[in-house]
Amino acid sequence: LRIFSGTANPALAQEVATYLGMELGKIKIKRFADGEIYVQLQESVRGCDVFLIQPTCPPANENLMELLIMIDACRRASAKNITAVIPYFGYARADRKTQGRESIAAKLVANLITEAGADRMLACDLHSGQSMGYFDIPVDHVYGQPVILDYLASKTICSNDLVVVSPDVGGVARARAFAKKLSDAPLAIVDKRRHGHNLTEVLNLIGDVKGKVAVMVDDMIDTAGTIAKGAALLHQEGAREVYACSTHAVFSDPAVERLSSGLFQEVIITNTIPLPEQKSFPQLTVLSVA
Ligand code: R5P
Repeated sequence: LRIFSGTANPALAQEVATYLGMELGKIKIKRFADGEIYVQLQESVRGCDVFLIQPTCPPANENLMELLIMIDACRRASAKNITAVIPYFGYARADRKTQGRESIAAKLVANLITEAGADRMLACDLHSGQSMGYFDIPVDHVYGQPVILDYLASKTICSNDLVVVSPDVGGVARARAFAKKLSDAPLAIVDKRRHGHNLTEVLNLIGDVKGKVAVMVDDMIDTAGTIAKGAALLHQEGAREVYACSTHAVFSDPAVERLSSGLFQEVIITNTIPLPEQKSFPQLTVLSVA
């Protein structure tokens, strides 16, 4: 068995290797002057089970291409089995056509990974579970929720006062599963309605949060628009404290500004995507999915 890391999240890959009592495999990855990517394995993988750890987080295109070239290098070096371990699967939100003449980029990416030679894919918290069906190879779908739930339990906020909140209708199943694990905590849902293009969104709350500790759950925080708007509504509706929990911290601008603006008691994320130091803030807790 061999584990190799791409350049997207070497710290997580190192943690996984340490957990398994192994060393990361030696691999050379560099950019040519024109930006093209060069990969060479620095040790034999002939007949090996190879695991390549590489989230396709921003810069998504760079990290994806690097993963594809790593898979290709392993295949051409006669690896027996190649598993693409993709802690954050980029393009996951482009999983269907919502308007005519759009691409379904998540399916295209699945095709590319399979075509490159992966025998198996392991992903953490895919945006929609259905996208497992885009792969004609086995997919292992793992979750950040257990790590986040353990942490919440250790904070003793799992009281009767708790309410789990889905920040949009699409996340209800995820939030329901989370609530079930928190002693069947009640559920609330933020219902977002846009009355036409460029018209202000109207937020409605389904459920009761008055005087409660609200725990918002989402798969990813990108610009933090969704979760911050939801949190503002929860405060307006009388929530005592608001926590944000999310596996993937994409944190595109102005996420940090929104998350540190006093709306949240704490923002709990995992390390599927590496977080540069300048994107950290006092209310942030980063848990490991290694
Ligand atoms: C949407 O369906 C996702 O689950 C997230 O809620 C969304 O992508 C987060 O994006 P942002 O943080 O930019 O609102």
